[in-house]
Amino acid sequence: MADLYLSISTQPDSVLEAIAASMDDRANDPAMQAICASYMGRLPKPGAKVLEIGCGNGASTALLLRAIDPSEMTGIDPAEGLLDRARKRFAGRTAVNFTVGTAVKTEQPDAAYDVVVAHTVYSHLPDPRAALAEAFRVLKPGGTLAVFDGDYATNTVALFDGDPLQAAMIATQRNLIHDGYIMRRLPRMMEDAGFERSRTEAHGFVQTQNPAYMKSLMARGVAAAAKAGDCGLDLSEAFITEAARRAENGSFYGAILFISATTQKPG
Ligand SMILES: C[S@@+](CC[C@H](N)C(=O)[O-])C[C@H]1O[C@@H](n2cnc3c(N)ncnc32)[C@H](O)[C@@H]1O
Repeated sequence: MADLYLSISTQPDSVLEAIAASMDDRANDPAMQAICASYMGRLPKPGAKVLEIGCGNGASTALLLRAIDPSEMTGIDPAEGLLDRARKRFAGRTAVNFTVGTAVKTEQPDAAYDVVVAHTVYSHLPDPRAALAEAFRVLKPGGTLAVFDGDYATNTVALFDGDPLQAAMIATQRNLIHDGYIMRRLPRMMEDAGFERSRTEAHGFVQTQNPAYMKSLMARGVAAAAKAGDCGLDLSEAFITEAARRAENGSFYGAILFISATTQKPG
């Protein structure tokens, strides 16, 4: 699959801007804030040293900072353009810093963190086992790893069997997600990497009346599909128009099951 995030560090600023806006839409949604308060609220606090993998423009960093009160927060991401946005968001805030790195090569020292969080990142990784090994390396003994992501194979915007708008979600997954099933396999992978048995929780996310995130996700997905040659621009734009029509007349329905998997490095 041609997940756009696999080449995130070479994407033009217009694409990064659309991603950043979509991340903000999602982080601003009250339902997502409640989900984050729930799983992030159980992370060790306060005073923990926290590493966020794939922090993007800092939208999820803000949710983390709201849920826990770390002594130090470091966000890493391969995309300089997104890190710049994160730095601007937290300008003047000491003990919050952002630096280039990937899930597999964080460039962080051994056993340095109490908590490592990856919020909607693992579905974009070609090698999640290497990412888990890296998280294990940078965590202190007894430290906590929290991985949160969509169980994207469950994504739906369909209102009836064969709803043509569902094709837009399929195109979105094909072009924006590397592995829509990763959260189903992750608990076992965590144990294989040496972590303790994970606490795995399901978080339903439904948008109807104000589907800002689902609409922006779909718009980015079908635009990427058109760019990749999966469909023409006319069809891509027709999907966006149909989603907007449904949002306007109150018939839009979009749902994703999110999963959090939280585990510890043995002490
Ligand atoms: C869907 S966005 C999530 C951003 C942020 N965590 C949030 O929820 O707002 C996925 C993020 O993962 C980053 N990413 C892509 N490949 C990565 C990799 N190999 N290692 C770490 N982060 C990566 C992207 O640049 C992007 O910021």
